[in-house]
Amino acid sequence: MASSVFSFSLFFFFLLFSFTTSLHLCTAFSAQHSPLRHHLRHPRFAGHNYRDALSKSILYFEGQRSGKLPPNQRITWRRDSGLSDGSAVDLVGGYYDAGDNVKFGFPMAFTATMLSWSVIEFGGLMKSELCNAREAIRWATDYLLKATAQPDTIYVQVGDANKDHACWERPEDMDTPRNVFKIDRNTPGSEVAAETASALAAASLVFRRIDPTYAKLLVTRAIRVFEFADKYRGVYSNGLKKVVCPFYCSFSGYQDELLWGAAWLHRATKNPMYLQYIQVNGQTLGADESDNTFGWDNKHVGARILLSKAFLVQKLQSLHDYKGHADNYICSLIPGTPSSQAQYTPGGLLFKMNDSNMQYVTSTSFLLLTYAKYLTSAHKVVNCGGAVVTPNRLRFIAKKQVDYLLGDNPLKMSYMVGYGPRYPLRIHHRGSSLPSIATHPGKIQCSSGFNIMNSQSPNPNILVGAVVGGPDQNDRFPDQRSDYEQSEPATYINAPLVGALSYLAHSFGQL
Ligand SMILES: *[C@@H]1O[C@H](CO)[C@@H](O)[C@H](O)[C@H]1NC(C)=O
Repeated sequence: MASSVFSFSLFFFFLLFSFTTSLHLCTAFSAQHSPLRHHLRHPRFAGHNYRDALSKSILYFEGQRSGKLPPNQRITWRRDSGLSDGSAVDLVGGYYDAGDNVKFGFPMAFTATMLSWSVIEFGGLMKSELCNAREAIRWATDYLLKATAQPDTIYVQVGDANKDHACWERPEDMDTPRNVFKIDRNTPGSEVAAETASALAAASLVFRRIDPTYAKLLVTRAIRVFEFADKYRGVYSNGLKKVVCPFYCSFSGYQDELLWGAAWLHRATKNPMYLQYIQVNGQTLGADESDNTFGWDNKHVGARILLSKAFLVQKLQSLHDYKGHADNYICSLIPGTPSSQAQYTPGGLLFKMNDSNMQYVTSTSFLLLTYAKYLTSAHKVVNCGGAVVTPNRLRFIAKKQVDYLLGDNPLKMSYMVGYGPRYPLRIHHRGSSLPSIATHPGKIQCSSGFNIMNSQSPNPNILVGAVVGGPDQNDRFPDQRSDYEQSEPATYINAPLVGALSYLAHSFGQL
């Protein structure tokens, strides 16, 4: 009795607390680290526990947080870091990109766009994880709002990547230069600007009902940032070559981001001006280009799928061609059809590149499931050189890719840390591999961390939910910490997976 009175008053304290602070607390704390949980709790099911994987895929983002961590931080081996980032301008917050301690604006914006798209399409299926997914987006967009606070200027990077990479340090110990780098009218960067506009526009759709004031701020900023991107055209890796290359050099140019940005602005504002922009500029921006790689650099196929929705669902006839452009991309993925181009490993994983291949697996799975959704609502199919491909076929292909990622592969290895009985133990990640502040409060200097980096010992801190670059073209995975191509996680690997897992958890995973 006494204890229930106690918890009752605790509950009220909690309510009071959540109303009187600006913190946004999610009520479900489901994703504790328990790699064996789904095996113990669901021994009768041979399939995957997509809901568990979904919780973990979102939890991962808390491990990448830079700045002042909130009291409800669930990955507790991390502490505050980067608290003076920005100096003249406040650039505290945002995400560390991957296994290092640099804040790269270009992939961070793409991460925010894809997390937002995940919630826009599949948020209705996320249940208790919806709140956590929104928080993961807000952690990025709060930062992007700071980075775009001055008109015609965007702060696109904090940290010197070469100097950062020369150290193996916890973010909490960082003593490498935290230089800030910006684009402006004289040194433009249309790809990073348009991607930032896409992120802000997409996120405005996520918050439109739940926090209209925030959503308005996001969309207003998105409009201004897109104008800047389009008006002052240029590739940021010209002006900032030494800073952003070879890390996040823009190889595909800015045309893809301008098209993608206009598509997001149209979706967020419904302003016909953007539709007109797409009609006038679509061809020159590469609407039907045949490069089918969708990731932090190239957004062409993302734009095609996104714009096909406006035709398929909203029946905007002027975007008719985008169904064809999207179909061409989809057909390139379907094995056994005349237009098939994609390569798969012997074990069945889509294989595009040696470095961080899993980002293409997650982004492709998301696009397949999203296109399947649009096709279904329009009662349409895809015709691949005479072969009819149904939305369910697309879902089946996406599910197979995600199942491979979660452990249905020759090595029986889950490529998501903390999911399943066997997962990567030596991920290329500074914070995960070094002892935590709690167990080792003393500073670990720049180069002394390399002893641990080069050792065979497993990482002491489990970065739950992190998805690594994955196996090579022959399904092999050495699990070596130095191997950044295969063993490094990155925010843009996880972001589209959040959407794919939400769909799969709803449709196949009511465990
Ligand atoms: C990928 O790795 C394979 C096998 O190690 C190698 O033969 C190939 O050249 C690599 N491809 C690229 C683009 O680096």
